[in-house]
Amino acid sequence: MLRDKNILIGVSGSIAAYKIPVLVRLLRKAGANVQIIMTPSAKDFVTPLTLSTVSNRPVLTQVFKPETGEWNSHVELALWADLLLLAPLSANTLAKMAHGIADNLLLTTYLSARTEVMFAPAMDLDMYKHPSTKKNIQTLLDRKHILIEPTEGELASGLCGAGRMEEPENIFRKIKQYFEQFSKLTGKKVMVSAGPTFESIDPVRFIGNHSSGKMGFAIAKELANRGAEVSLIAGPVSLATPVGITNRRNVVSAADMLEVCNECFPKMDIGIMAAAVADFTPQTKEIQKIKKGNVAPVLKLTATKDILLALGNQKQSHQLLVGFALETENEVENALKKLHHKNLDLIVLNSLQDNGAGFGHDTNMITMIDRSEHPQSFGLKSKEEVAKDIVDKIESLML
Ligand code: CTP
Repeated sequence: MLRDKNILIGVSGSIAAYKIPVLVRLLRKAGANVQIIMTPSAKDFVTPLTLSTVSNRPVLTQVFKPETGEWNSHVELALWADLLLLAPLSANTLAKMAHGIADNLLLTTYLSARTEVMFAPAMDLDMYKHPSTKKNIQTLLDRKHILIEPTEGELASGLCGAGRMEEPENIFRKIKQYFEQFSKLTGKKVMVSAGPTFESIDPVRFIGNHSSGKMGFAIAKELANRGAEVSLIAGPVSLATPVGITNRRNVVSAADMLEVCNECFPKMDIGIMAAAVADFTPQTKEIQKIKKGNVAPVLKLTATKDILLALGNQKQSHQLLVGFALETENEVENALKKLHHKNLDLIVLNSLQDNGAGFGHDTNMITMIDRSEHPQSFGLKSKEEVAKDIVDKIESLML
């Protein structure tokens, strides 16, 4: 949800500034870009070096640096941000914001901000209770800024009461929730199949394929990032479950995958079949290991059930179904046939002819075709970027 989001954090002079490095780490771990602006007095509470190290960007404090003639554009900073967070917000900076005073970089940036503003006040309890503080907070609320209320507890003064800045973990959660509201996927149930299937010949041998599962796992991760509840049905792969996914079902064969998909899909809003399911399985599976004889054994195969087709046949009007196609010739034509035959809403076409695309690679090159039948082709990208394109497309198809 926070990946590639630009978050501008304005730090003002309060002892709670010592908690900001933890918040920055959480945001960076979630994939956000963080830019810190400090008021001059904030530097007494936490060093710019600490904050520039954890945010991996220089911390900005001055509009203009006379020694170098450098100028920090508050307008550009404000336009860059997807969210402006003021944390901790001191009584002084709060008052200046309420009255439109612009005597430092943070305040000029605030006045230029077109984006959503969140603020987390931190001050001693009497300052917090003071009518002027209450009035200033109300002024910011009237501007539709989002208040992260201070909590009650022991304060730096030794007094006890309201005024402690909310803990970084809770501020992080609020930022995440803020971005989740813009995703149509928030709370949606999505099933993703990924990886190969292995079809047993005997207890030690199987027929498999080269699918690594990376594409399906990247899609599952992207969906979870956007707030979806993902059920990941994984064939035999050696990939760790992406963060944010609590429901993973491991399967081995096409028959296992069919069983789990059939059980899962009716409860889903969206199904995405990224698995490379075997089309054929040995007619009989030997209980004992086949011994080498003089004559090489002949393997008799039988067709597996097409899971995607079965899901397409049971799909309800509120559900979306996405399939993949791996083609080596007449790619678009064949993919279109699959889109209609399997009753899909979207088909993602992988071409094995493209260098760096398909099985085993960390990159992929796809064409997507929805019911409008207009192929949309993308360049060679990392599987994470491809997953983003696929999930963007799915969001665009959601009502
Ligand atoms: N698929 C499936 N069950 C199978 C085989 C494939 O659900 N038994 C799904 C795959 O997960 C993928 C899609 O069908 O989403 C397309 O797979 P692909 O191998 O390209 O096509 P097939 O329909 O199997 O047709 P063909 O191999 O003849 O091209």
